[in-house]
Amino acid sequence: MRKPIIAGNWKMYKTPKESLAFLDAFLPLVEAHTRDEILLFPTMSSLAYVLEASEGTNVNAGAQNMHWLNEGPYTGQTSPTMLVSIGCRHVLLGHSEQRLYFNETYERVNLKLKAAINHGITPIVCVGEMLAEREDGRTEETLRHQIRASLRNISPSEARRLVIAYEPIWAIGTGSTATPEVAAEAHAILRHELTQCVGEATAENTRILYGGSVKPENISELMRQDGIDGALVGGASLVPTTFANIVHY
Ligand code: PGA
Repeated sequence: MRKPIIAGNWKMYKTPKESLAFLDAFLPLVEAHTRDEILLFPTMSSLAYVLEASEGTNVNAGAQNMHWLNEGPYTGQTSPTMLVSIGCRHVLLGHSEQRLYFNETYERVNLKLKAAINHGITPIVCVGEMLAEREDGRTEETLRHQIRASLRNISPSEARRLVIAYEPIWAIGTGSTATPEVAAEAHAILRHELTQCVGEATAENTRILYGGSVKPENISELMRQDGIDGALVGGASLVPTTFANIVHY
């Protein structure tokens, strides 16, 4: 069955010192929690510290982005081999803030996804429609395109570690969460498209997380929906007690 993932996306917040202070407070609060996988996505300058401090615990950490090549003249980038060298085995790909502010495309997400798979890094591919696309009735078309472009030339066995995060852009950092019904409907579209791309067995095993203004107050209802296999949490993952309350939904 699909073990839920509760992931915290720290975006461009927390120095190494602040990250370690978070862990000091957070780890005891979730100690012995086994129902869900717990992941943190710190900024690059904190990642190695968080990986080291969480070693041997039930909390793991990943990167917010990566390049697809192993090395090269690409200022500002981090490669999959570099991530693996610090013990990093998870990466977010195609987050909407990368798409909106740094021109990330699903063609590149596809290259990054292949690189992650080749290096044994679990990719969490983010998809989600803009408000205008939803209002124009183009949510389904948008989501299907994002999945197809991400998974181009990826086989069912290669996709077996894939995780998807459905993050409607209008719900990110806005305080307005998708209703559980709206989220569940999008998740069904995504799983259907995954089935088309990588077959039923792989699609059934793929965890699809919801993200966008997840809070302790709305997590339980979201997690009750069929097909929602966890959450990618931004703002509410920055405070240890708040994020622990989400983990204990
Ligand atoms: P939010 O962010 O929880 O602050 O809306 C979610 C995300 O961007 O992953």
